[in-house]
Amino acid sequence: MRRKIVLLILGILIIGAVSLLFIRNRTLHESTPKILTDKKVLVVYFSAQNHTKEVAKKIANNIGADIFEIEPVDKYTDDDLDWTVIDSRVSRENEDANLRNIELVKTKVDNWDSYDVILFGYPIWWGEAAWPVNNFITSNDFTGKTVIPFCTSVSSSIENSVKKLKEMAKGGDWREGKRFDSNAKDEEIKMWTDTLK
Ligand SMILES: Cc1cc2nc3c(=O)[nH]c(=O)nc-3n(C[C@H](O)[C@H](O)[C@H](O)COP(=O)(O)O)c2cc1C
Repeated sequence: MRRKIVLLILGILIIGAVSLLFIRNRTLHESTPKILTDKKVLVVYFSAQNHTKEVAKKIANNIGADIFEIEPVDKYTDDDLDWTVIDSRVSRENEDANLRNIELVKTKVDNWDSYDVILFGYPIWWGEAAWPVNNFITSNDFTGKTVIPFCTSVSSSIENSVKKLKEMAKGGDWREGKRFDSNAKDEEIKMWTDTLK
């Protein structure tokens, strides 16, 4: 009998503790505004082979953001992008920093000042952000904006590229960023965007 009473009290205590934890978690969750709450968001991206483009479109769609593509005037062909060929366009640009000043169709976004958050996407080239994004970064003032980078790559991580973009950019509260596989799954993209909104 005594054993039953002890077990009953223990059971009540455990249920009580679990309920308290659940209520506390819910309250915390509800009272912490996410990064995109009530913010005007723009997804800016460059993509040479459409992988980053697909991810960018899905991100913009999931959060209902506007979208802007960074486009080189002289677009990269498949031959240009063949990094296994020593004198391909990307190989030459990689070897000589002076060749990385890529002219863009447009560096300015309509109503740039109205955006609070910029989600900034690009492929990784030789461990860095693909350099066609550089002229966009240096042509715009990110002061007062939160910048959340994302990239696609085969295996490289995003950290190195974010550090360099942050140094290159004027202003902006640059966040950690997110790397996706070239063929990122919809669920992974949705899970990430859900953590922001
Ligand atoms: C010139 C070049 C260099 C690349 N360098 C890397 C690299 O250093 N690390 C990596 O993981 N992937 C690298 N990749 C693979 C791309 O990052 C990956 O395929 C990316 O998803 C391409 O995005 P996009 O289709 O939007 O251009 C490279 C691709 C190219 C064309």
